[in-house]
Amino acid sequence: MKNINPKYYEPLEQMMSIRHQYMAKIISSKRGLNIYDFFKDKQILDLGCGTGEFLNNYHELGSVCTGVDVIKNFQIKNKQKFHLIKTNFQTYLKKNKKKYDVVFLFEFLEHLSIDERKNLFNTLSKILNSDGLIFLSTLNRNLISEFLSINIAENILKLIPRNTHDPKLFLKPSDIKILSNKNNLKLSDIQGISYNPFIKTFKLSKIELVNYFATITN
Ligand SMILES: C[S@@+](CC[C@H](N)C(=O)[O-])C[C@H]1O[C@@H](n2cnc3c(N)ncnc32)[C@H](O)[C@@H]1O
Repeated sequence: MKNINPKYYEPLEQMMSIRHQYMAKIISSKRGLNIYDFFKDKQILDLGCGTGEFLNNYHELGSVCTGVDVIKNFQIKNKQKFHLIKTNFQTYLKKNKKKYDVVFLFEFLEHLSIDERKNLFNTLSKILNSDGLIFLSTLNRNLISEFLSINIAENILKLIPRNTHDPKLFLKPSDIKILSNKNNLKLSDIQGISYNPFIKTFKLSKIELVNYFATITN
């Protein structure tokens, strides 16, 4: 993993509300609950948590939250039931003895090597409580996604620093399905995300060609 320039976290902040909207939709359809009731008492693990600001929203709803990131760019202080830990996910998961109801992997998998992903998925199945949910977003692996995320987002619009991404590490939904199936997990939803750079807004989309959400269950 190369160092991430803090500028990278700016567009991620614009993704907060679309993530919330996506999770609300899934929680309603799979658990029959509204997202505010669901997150009243959950144990959440956020791997590659970045600033910790997204995770903090769910602490405010009542969940016990742990965020892990190899870079310390945390913007929220640790407090009761909210801990951000600077370490890599491998070290954290080796020592971890807890189980979680929800795991967040937002914009994370595309920064891991193939071996790191295998290792991660192998552990995920062991730390997820029954009826657990893993929510993630990532970048699809194809020429259009490479063109939009590297040529347009990094080089032309400069929305994120150059060399943030290695398109070889982008994941097709089928890659996530294989990783899940090999580890007794199930890829249970995929939903595309579209971005309008002029109004800096993300929307849920039927097209998962570039950025997309996924939900994994056990
Ligand atoms: C693109 S950012 C996503 C941040 C946050 N999830 C979000 O979406 O706002 C990817 C994050 O993963 C972290 N990261 C990369 N490799 C990691 C590893 N092996 N262990 C822990 N964190 C890692 C980076 O430091 C970075 O903060």
